[in-house]
Amino acid sequence: MSKVSVIGAGNVGATVAKRLLEKDLADVVLLDIVEGMPQGKALDMAHSANVLGFNTRITGTNDYLDTAGSDVVIITSGAARKPGMTRDQLTGINADIVSEVVSNVAERSPDAIILMVTNPVDAMTYLALKKSQFEHRRVIGLSGVLDSARMAYLISKELKVPVTDVTAYALGEHGQGMVILPRFTTVRGVPLTKMLPDSVISNIVERTIGSGAEVVSLVKSSSAFYAPSAAVFKMAEAIITNSQQVLPCAVYLDGEYGLRDVVLGVPVKLGSGGVESIIQLELSPGEKKQMAASARSVKKTIKNAGIS
Ligand code: NAI
Ligand code: 2OP
Repeated sequence: MSKVSVIGAGNVGATVAKRLLEKDLADVVLLDIVEGMPQGKALDMAHSANVLGFNTRITGTNDYLDTAGSDVVIITSGAARKPGMTRDQLTGINADIVSEVVSNVAERSPDAIILMVTNPVDAMTYLALKKSQFEHRRVIGLSGVLDSARMAYLISKELKVPVTDVTAYALGEHGQGMVILPRFTTVRGVPLTKMLPDSVISNIVERTIGSGAEVVSLVKSSSAFYAPSAAVFKMAEAIITNSQQVLPCAVYLDGEYGLRDVVLGVPVKLGSGGVESIIQLELSPGEKKQMAASARSVKKTIKNAGIS
């Protein structure tokens, strides 16, 4: 059985732990700095095993020794947005937390694949790469799977088609600089641009970019976690099952898309080695410009956080 450690037992962390257990995908170690909380949540989840019929195991802990030898480590520790906050406003506090967490994780699980969730995720993934000194293919951020799923939901509502028939493409920064590609978005192979007028597509694009803020403004006490935990579950599943599925993820670019030394959302093939390959789409000049602007925005966050 694969071993997945989830660092941060808050909303996203606890929910992805639950998804991993219930799908019988991995044994889970759930770690947080708050004493008793991860142990209590783990016990509660373990109590559901008989009812739901799963045999995977969960350990709640405050001790990194329990995470040793993990195949995958999902990092969700850190502050989440409050209504009106941008993801970038979390940089200072979360950079300190991510630095400490990654050092602990890399020491105990030197062969793991790190899935970064903590925001601002592109910059935090870059920080995790630097801190862990893992190969680029083994440090991957959650962005496009979530953003594309949100777009797919909006398209399915507009066209009244099953959401599972929609393949949406959201790349670039997980933030205002998100790059949505309607040209590559399809409903059972039919391009979205043939199905909806530009004005409606523009509204969908805007609402997709604002979806995270929309959730936090409604819930107020927390930011989104059901869809984020589902999205990072899907990434972990692709790695654990070596599915080679193509998913949009935040990864280190070294010349791909004409961009260097930055982490940005692009389509990648995920397997047991992490990023098995980066898929290069044929972008139009306008789309390339958007990706370059997105990369500049992430680089600015990295620089402001003093990450090098
Ligand atoms: P949360 O506040 O519910 O949970 C965060 C947990 O991290 C808390 O339990 C806290 O005690 C723990 N923590 C803080 N410092 C720690 C440390 N040094 N070591 C271990 N644990 C520590 O927040 P939530 O909603 O789970 O979100 C977590 C992060 O994920 C936030 O930064 C949020 O913005 C981000 N996020 C990113 C998404 C993405 O698409 N990349 C989507 C959703 C959330
Ligand atoms: C989201 O998109 C907060 O990044 C998180 O919901």
